[in-house]
Amino acid sequence: MKFLVINGPNLNMLGVREPAIYGSATLAELEEMLKEHCKKIGAEVEFFQSNHEGDIVDRIQAAFGNTDAIVINPAAYTHTSVAIPDALKAVGIPAVEVHLSDVDKREDFRKISYVSPVCVATVKGKHFAGYIEACDILVAHLNK
Ligand code: DQA
Repeated sequence: MKFLVINGPNLNMLGVREPAIYGSATLAELEEMLKEHCKKIGAEVEFFQSNHEGDIVDRIQAAFGNTDAIVINPAAYTHTSVAIPDALKAVGIPAVEVHLSDVDKREDFRKISYVSPVCVATVKGKHFAGYIEACDILVAHLNK
């Protein structure tokens, strides 16, 4: 089983960026934690972070035919991008959307997600644990 974990814009700034909302741990720490979890569940995992919408689309397309499941935090593109959900639909790889913060309890514009309709599930407000939950949801989905 091969997972791809995609993090969108400004998530490379985790640890520095608004720690009251996003916590003080870094993206490298998140990826290390996910590597450990995936080892435990016998899955391979690759990571990708980009601040550019087109690069995220390219990475999703490159996953076609070689990746079983995608965990994606599209960050700000959640609320603006049509290209990212279109790419997820195009490749047909099951995906779970993750948000560190509870987007429903923040500004109104964060309540809109163009990505959630094409995902198996959305996990929000659980910080790093949300990514672990996303992996577990995808394992259950693939084993159905
Ligand atoms: C986020 C929530 C988004 O609204 C925001 O633009 C982000 C991070 C989250 O993980 O909580 O960059 O996706």
